[in-house]
Amino acid sequence: MDFKKKMLRDDALEGKTIIVTGGGSGLGMSMTRYFLELGANVVITSRNLEKLKASAKTLEEETGGKCLPVQCDVRHYDEVEHMIEQAHTAFGEVDVLLNNAAGNFISPTERLSANAFDTIIDIVLKGSKNCTLALGKYWIDKKQTNKTVLSIVTTYAWTGSGYVVPSATAKAGVLAMTRSLAVEWAKYGIRFNAIAPGPFPTKGAWDRLLPGDLKEKFDLAKKVPLKRVGDHQELANLAAYLVSDFAHYLNGEVITIDGGEWLKGAGQFNLLEMVTPEMWDQLEEMIRSQKKK
Ligand code: HXC
Ligand code: NAP
Repeated sequence: MDFKKKMLRDDALEGKTIIVTGGGSGLGMSMTRYFLELGANVVITSRNLEKLKASAKTLEEETGGKCLPVQCDVRHYDEVEHMIEQAHTAFGEVDVLLNNAAGNFISPTERLSANAFDTIIDIVLKGSKNCTLALGKYWIDKKQTNKTVLSIVTTYAWTGSGYVVPSATAKAGVLAMTRSLAVEWAKYGIRFNAIAPGPFPTKGAWDRLLPGDLKEKFDLAKKVPLKRVGDHQELANLAAYLVSDFAHYLNGEVITIDGGEWLKGAGQFNLLEMVTPEMWDQLEEMIRSQKKK
């Protein structure tokens, strides 16, 4: 089985222009690479222009596509508007927004300053809102249709999670915005969906969520029923499908891609996978014997 295989036909995103926030690293860069391979023009944005330029150069060399690096801190609405202007100047109409930029770190919540909490909310929730509102208003004003917004959330957007509370709070907000606007702005020809990835190794996430030897002590693959972490191409395949016209009837959905991880934590008896066949023999006997009493 080859889950690293590319899924869509080569021209699946031909003629589309896509903005990927946080597109210069990690999952954003992997999704951008596949979008370029499928014929899209991509604008990648983040705070660090040097990093973006280097990533855009690598991606263009690898794919032969057009990738424009634009510095933009998504926390600031004026910077977002300016970034969108630059995308229009370079490529004309923008078709897709991928809200991927994020900030996160593990911490007991009582240790967080008000500013630390705000920092994560501002990048994840306010940043996604800024990009969505600025581009959405433009699309509506110019009567441009067949547009789509895809947001990367997490499975704890609906379960919540200790030790990443600002991120959980913000991702829940992004999911609520996705579902709300999927209905409200469908009349303008704009679709909204989200992806909730399980663990996909990236430097950005691993350094902040599994610092030091936590990486060895806390093997995330063990928490996944399929006993592995995700491969970037699997996520890129899903993202490319969701932003393509093949997914035109998909609106307001959040698709989990986590090998069953969050459900394993939710099912009350899933821990019983630790029980050996011999122990099951004993347990079955004990349960059946209850009937005889
Ligand atoms: C407590 C901390 C802290 C920590 C920072 N702060 N790190 N508090 N514990 N480990 C506090 C600071 O003291 C400061 O508060 C406030 O947070 C802002 O910190 P700055 O360093 O000034 O902010 P900034 O330079 O904007 O950097 C933002 C950042 C950083 C989020 C802190 O980590 C970053 O740039 N992250 C971007 C990439 C990223 O996080 N990627 C991972 C996404 S992974 P005071 O009060 O002192 O001013 C992800 C995965 C989800 O989302 C699910 C996985 C399964
Ligand atoms: P990453 O490489 O650290 O990606 C985060 C990106 O966001 C970086 O490129 C960063 O660039 C950018 N960014 C941060 N603050 C920004 C700001 N204020 N303005 C603009 N850009 C900003 O981590 P990743 O793992 O690929 O994460 C990508 C997405 O997947 C995130 O939404 C994350 O929550 C989600 N996710 C990841 C996992 C996982 O296992 N990796 C699991 C679930 C969800 P700069 O620092 O240069 O600004």
